[in-house]
Amino acid sequence: MDTNKLNSENKDIWDSNAKDWDDYMGEAGNDWHKKLIAPQTEQLLNLKRNDRLLDIGCGNGLFARRMAKKGIKVTAFDFSNLNIENAQKYDTSNINYLTLDATLESDLKKLNNRKFEGLVSNMVFMDMPDIEYIFSQIKGLLTDDGVFVFSIQHPCFNSEFAEVKDDDSLLLKDYVHRDISKGVAIPTQTKEQYYFHRPISYYMNLGFANGLVVSGFVESSFDSKTNDGVYSKFPPILIIKMIKG
Ligand SMILES: C[S@@+](CC[C@H](N)C(=O)[O-])C[C@H]1O[C@@H](n2cnc3c(N)ncnc32)[C@H](O)[C@@H]1O
Repeated sequence: MDTNKLNSENKDIWDSNAKDWDDYMGEAGNDWHKKLIAPQTEQLLNLKRNDRLLDIGCGNGLFARRMAKKGIKVTAFDFSNLNIENAQKYDTSNINYLTLDATLESDLKKLNNRKFEGLVSNMVFMDMPDIEYIFSQIKGLLTDDGVFVFSIQHPCFNSEFAEVKDDDSLLLKDYVHRDISKGVAIPTQTKEQYYFHRPISYYMNLGFANGLVVSGFVESSFDSKTNDGVYSKFPPILIIKMIKG
């Protein structure tokens, strides 16, 4: 696979969908974000006032805003300048937005060797054709006791290989193979986006190879009292916390 070509196609797709994404997610995100991603990610990050957080692939800035409101000093970047423009329409107190591509050394250099108590990347890595470069940079971006938390679609239960059959069951067709597919994250998006399926061991081993260890692991599902669909029985979101080993 030509990852550079895929990455630039991906950026065009995200530019095309930027308005749809912002219209749909709004200031604070949809139910998935509010119930399955943001609270758990925030808890795993466990940051305090004035800590520095780098948000990798911030989209319209919804998580950056959530953390900035708590007094965290946030630097947030995305490779779509249209996403960044949308993010800047909301409150930008405590947030420094940048347009950077996480796959490019020349872009990450613009962070000027700054260190962060927290690194976060919500729902980004399964959208990127190559995550090896960004993983190689994590240790250098973290303070000694810094934490890195990322959320992804759960590769076992929420991928092109997991077909929802009914409220109780999924049909799993494959898991172990890496694969590329196209689909939609929100019903209103203009263009289908790429998904890059990787088994969980891929993410773990990439972290280990780059001097990180796992110190937190959350499989998020809806509360069965309020939502009895299939994703109250199988977790659609996986959140992993890594620290320096
Ligand atoms: C599913 S959205 C998630 C956005 C945001 N983190 C959230 O939780 O709402 C994925 C984001 O990753 C960004 N992205 C994808 N590849 C990227 C890259 N190579 N560098 C920076 N951002 C990237 C996209 O532009 C998009 O905003």
